Amino acid sequence: MASSNARIATVRILQRGYVAAVFLTGAIFMVFYFSVQYSADITDYTPQINEFENYNQLKLGIRYTTQVFSEPKCKANMSVADMKDFSSLPDVIKNFLYYRHCRHFPTLLDQPDKCGGVNRSKDVFLLLVIKSSPLNYERREVLRKTWAKERFHKGAWIRRIFILGTMGSGEQMEKTNKLLKAEHDEFNDILQWDFSDTFHNLTLKQILFLQWMEKNCPNAHFLFNGDDDVFANTNNIVEYLQSLPDNDESKHLFTGYLFQNEKVVRWAGSKYFIPVQIQESNTYEPYCGGGGYLLSGYTARVINRISQSIAIHPIDDAYMGMCLSKAGLSPSSHVGVKTLGLNMLCKGTDNLEPCYLRDLLLVHRYLPADMYLMWKQVHDPNLKCSKN
Ligand SMILES: *[C@@H]1O[C@H](CO)[C@@H](O)[C@H](O)[C@H]1NC(C)=O
Ligand SMILES: *[C@@H]1O[C@H](CO)[C@@H](O)[C@H](O)[C@H]1NC(C)=O
Ligand SMILES: *[C@@H]1O[C@H](CO)[C@@H](O)[C@H](O)[C@H]1NC(C)=O
Repeated sequence: MASSNARIATVRILQRGYVAAVFLTGAIFMVFYFSVQYSADITDYTPQINEFENYNQLKLGIRYTTQVFSEPKCKANMSVADMKDFSSLPDVIKNFLYYRHCRHFPTLLDQPDKCGGVNRSKDVFLLLVIKSSPLNYERREVLRKTWAKERFHKGAWIRRIFILGTMGSGEQMEKTNKLLKAEHDEFNDILQWDFSDTFHNLTLKQILFLQWMEKNCPNAHFLFNGDDDVFANTNNIVEYLQSLPDNDESKHLFTGYLFQNEKVVRWAGSKYFIPVQIQESNTYEPYCGGGGYLLSGYTARVINRISQSIAIHPIDDAYMGMCLSKAGLSPSSHVGVKTLGLNMLCKGTDNLEPCYLRDLLLVHRYLPADMYLMWKQVHDPNLKCSKN
C-alpha cells in the first residue's frame, strides 16, 4: 500500500518534471517568437479594468476609480522572516510566505456575463474552468475547437472560461496582456487577474475564480476544473453527470483521480517541496489530482466559503482537499479519470488510441495537434472498437 503510493507519487513527480521541461522549452520559444513578432508595437497598452471590489475598498470604504497600476497592492508581510529557519528556505518558498495572506487582486479582464447573469446562470449545466498560462495560446486555440467548445449537448449547455494571471514584467507582460485582451474580445472566455501566474500562485487562482463564480455564476450546476493540456471527454462528462441519482447540483460532488495518504514532499529540490513552516503534518488530506476533476455548484460554494478560514497552501489540488476536509466532505474516485496518462497506468496501451478514450472522462497530457486529432477520431461515427 505504502510502496504503491510512493510509486504513484514518484511517477507523478517524474511526470510533472517532464511537463515542466516541456513547458519551459515552450515558454522560451514563445518569448523568442513574441519578441520577434511584436517588437514594434508594444507601447500603448493600458489594461482595461472593470470596477472591482477589493479587500482594501471594503475595509477602507473607499471607491477607487483610478487604473490598476495605481491600486494599493497587497504588501509583503515582512514579519514572516522571523520564522524559525526562514533564511534557509528556497527563494520561491520565501516569496510565497511573504505574500501568503494576499487573496484579493484586481481583475484585468472580466467576463461578468459568461453565465448570462446571476439568475440565468442556472441554465449553465457544465462550466469548464480551465487553468491556463498567458503563453499557452495554442492550447487555448485547440481547446476552443475541441472538447471545450461551447455548445448544447443532450439538453445541457456547456460554457468555457480560462483563468489566468500575468506573465513576467515590463514589456513581456504588456505583450502577453495584449494577447489576452484580443482573445477576450474575440472569444469571451478569458478571466485574468493582476497577480503573477506562477506554480506557487495556483491556489490563489482557484480562490479568485471561486470568488468570481459566487458573484457572477452562482447557479451553474456543475464545474469541470482542470489544466489546458488534458483531454476531457466533455460529452461523456455531461452524460455521466446527467446519470447521477437525482442529477442534483445542490448536493455534494467532487470526483476525479483520488490521492489518499499522499506524503508531503520534504526534499527542497522538488517543485512540490513544502517545508514545515508551511505545513507541519506529513500527509495531505484526500484530494483529486488537479489535472481535472468534477464538482457540483454546491460544493464550489462550500469550498469558497470555508477557504476564507484556511491559510493558502501552494499546491492547489491538495488545498481543495483541505477545504473539503474542514467542511466535512470527501472527494471521491472516478475510474474514468486518468490524470497520470494512460501509458503510465497500463503499459502497452497507446495514448493516441481513440477506442481507449471513447469511454473515459479525462486523460492527462496532450500536445495541441494530438488533441485535435484525437477529438476528431473519438467522435468519428465510423470509429470501430472491439468489445474489450
Ligand atoms: C504576518 O506574519 C506573521 C508571522 O508569521 C503572522 O503572525 C501574521 O499574522 C502575518 N500577518 C498577516 C497580515 O498575515
Ligand atoms: C433575479 O431573480 C430574483 C428572484 O426571482 C429577482 O428578485 C431579481 O430581480 C432577479 N434579478 C435580475 C437581475 O433579473
Ligand atoms: C503571487 O503573485 C503576487 C502578485 O503578483 C506576487 O507578488 C507573488 O510573488 C506571487 N507569489 C509567488 C509564490 O509566485
